[in-house]
Amino acid sequence: MHFDETLFKQMLLEKTDYCEKVLHAYLPTVDSLTGSDKCAGVVVDAMQYSVMAGGKRLRPLFICETNRMYGGRPELAEPFMAALEMIHNYSLVHDDMPAMDNDEYRRGVKTTWVKYGEGMAVLAGDALLNYAYEAALKAFDMCQNAQETAAVIRALKVLSRNAGIYGMVGGQCADLEAEKKPRETDGEVLTYIHKHKTACMIESGFQIGAILAGAPDDDVAKLGKIAENIGIAFQIQDDILDVIGDSEELGKLTGSDEKDGKVTYVTMYGLAKAAGDVRAMTDEALTLYDSLSSSNAFLRELIVRLITRTK
Ligand code: IPE
Ligand code: IPE
Ligand code: MG
Ligand code: MG
Ligand code: MG
Repeated sequence: MHFDETLFKQMLLEKTDYCEKVLHAYLPTVDSLTGSDKCAGVVVDAMQYSVMAGGKRLRPLFICETNRMYGGRPELAEPFMAALEMIHNYSLVHDDMPAMDNDEYRRGVKTTWVKYGEGMAVLAGDALLNYAYEAALKAFDMCQNAQETAAVIRALKVLSRNAGIYGMVGGQCADLEAEKKPRETDGEVLTYIHKHKTACMIESGFQIGAILAGAPDDDVAKLGKIAENIGIAFQIQDDILDVIGDSEELGKLTGSDEKDGKVTYVTMYGLAKAAGDVRAMTDEALTLYDSLSSSNAFLRELIVRLITRTK
């Protein structure tokens, strides 16, 4: 299938819109609180604020597209789409706080801690993380047979592991540590950081959809490797955009890494090698992608377009 610019953009818009709808359906609103639960109104408002400001919704999109690729049921994937985006959003709410990256803009609006205060931002992040699992557990209610139940259990293991100390939290830990001792941060440490803080959540996106659809184990393993490459490339591009991107388009202020004294792919290797490696790592992922037992031309095109993304 050939994608011209207009067709791809239209498909991406429709699919992102679907991800938004799924998120909306799972995220509690202030109005839904009754009785004394209304006391939690501010934190629910802060959750809504951080999630509904927008974003590319790539992680739920990956779940949706890998699920479709292997003929899965969308209803089973939806709780996980919402859950993964909630975990991603919690990570951003905390990442922006003064104790971490100290950033004031995200997705074109004030960050959650600036708008609601630091205490409420901590809680909004906690609430999003917790609610993610409440949402994901709803997948059990949609299982139609023992195979689906087993797939949901497996998907939950992938979701939780990749978000925690062996995944995103581990990567964020090393990221903060590296800020304190930049001279001890070598290429190996930087790869650990990129792989864990970013690629692990992308890996959840690629594997969960496939697992829920009953994809062959061999393909699930390959999707893990594909996502690792794409995820590392995605973070390198994020580092590049922090230097040469357009703040308005990005929705976040550029120069954040320099302000924090971060060791990034750009400070370590320079812009030219960074850009070259984004392409090389994606090409490697595409070669593996083309060896999968099923195909999804839209997802392939999306992966290609991430190489030159500007936001
Ligand atoms: C930002 O992720 C954090 C990184 C892992 C680089 P995204 O670039 O996917 O952010 P949103 O969700 O589109 O705002
Ligand atoms: C964030 O990496 C990765 C997370 C797990 C949140 P960055 O700190 O580079 O992400 P941005 O640039 O703030 O979006
Ligand atoms: Mg950070
Ligand atoms: Mg940051
Ligand atoms: Mg960044």
